[in-house]
Amino acid sequence: PSQLNVCVIGGDDAAPEVVHPTVEILRQLAPTINFVQAISGREAQAEIGETFPSVTRDAIDSADCTLFGASGGPSRPILWYLRWGKETYVNIRPVRWRPGYLSPMRYPERIDYVIVRDNLEGMYPPREGDLAELSTLASSGSWWQAPPVHEKGAYSVRVSTDRQMSRVAVAACELAVQRQQAGYPGRVTLGAKYSIQPRTDGRFREIVRETVKQYSGLSYQEFLVDDLARRMVAVPETLDVVVLGNEHGDILADAASGTIGGLGLSPSACYGENYAYFEPVHGSAPDLAGKNVINPTAMLLSGAMFLAHYGFTEQAQMLESAVAETYREGTTLTVDQGGNASTTDFVAAVRRQLGL
Ligand code: NAD
Ligand code: IPM
Ligand code: MN
Repeated sequence: PSQLNVCVIGGDDAAPEVVHPTVEILRQLAPTINFVQAISGREAQAEIGETFPSVTRDAIDSADCTLFGASGGPSRPILWYLRWGKETYVNIRPVRWRPGYLSPMRYPERIDYVIVRDNLEGMYPPREGDLAELSTLASSGSWWQAPPVHEKGAYSVRVSTDRQMSRVAVAACELAVQRQQAGYPGRVTLGAKYSIQPRTDGRFREIVRETVKQYSGLSYQEFLVDDLARRMVAVPETLDVVVLGNEHGDILADAASGTIGGLGLSPSACYGENYAYFEPVHGSAPDLAGKNVINPTAMLLSGAMFLAHYGFTEQAQMLESAVAETYREGTTLTVDQGGNASTTDFVAAVRRQLGL
């Protein structure tokens, strides 16, 4: 677009401490972009009396995309809006080790793949109820499938639509093609529980298989998701683009982050037909709030994903390289990476690399 408008929301706890310095850098790297601040969570509760006020929703709506930190417990409605309200259906979570990251793995240099997560369906958003409501199911199916409706308990509903599974599969294939042009193998890997849930994950498997067949240059492999979790640790070099359902993608993205050195290092981007938003994989890190110790790398790299997505390719590369160079030097590392630099020190080191 001629004028790119971006809504910036810091979020809760320690998240604003990584969002604000990131946006300062982005402003300087790309002065033509218009950034507009909005508030949510405890900050909005204090100022306006609601965690997700309508002015914040309007700010999200009038921008082309949002840069978001993270929401803490009581302020979840904003996350629901950024995902379901704006229909950002796919979540891209790169998993890539860089020299200097404090990985617990023996060969971390082999870790370089991307998780493509369903961002809308499965057991999200919560739809739960009393077991007794399932009494019509108690007489259908075989005895071992009948829910124990006479017990006190609850159920949770899992939903998958063909439309959503297809567009997530297409997003994975398009990403694999794009990566292939940069020298990656063009391999799509599905992880799902098709053995246990034939109607949902079984269908997901069918759809991903069929979608990959439409792309002549791509190869395909599939694993039950529990085995895939092991592969992420044992043979990460066999992974390129990994497609996962919503809850599997949530859990395995944090686990994958652990293999490269932790949540401080993992960026993400959520895309829809008409909207995008960018946030780190990590949450609001309440244990770090107000201490100036949170690692801003995940947010900075989410900022680089933002720049790249809107065609600021050169600036995206500059930012990524500045972060990579800061780790390569290894003299300014935050506590989670074994150093004693503050958030501010780390940002200053990245800024020096950028000549800012
Ligand atoms: P978390 O990701 O906030 O923190 C988990 C652990 O990782 C903590 O020890 C934390 O200190 C550490 N950590 C996280 N980010 C870090 C960083 N950038 N640098 C250094 N260390 C970092 O997860 P949690 O503690 O389970 O959840 C806290 C809150 O965040 C919860 O309310 C949760 O629901 C929410 N959350 C929100 C989002 C989101 O808005 N997208 C994502 C995940 C969690
Ligand atoms: C994430 C978070 C969210 C999720 C929570 C905060 C609802 O863990 O973005 O990974 O489960 O998707
Ligand atoms: Mn998560």
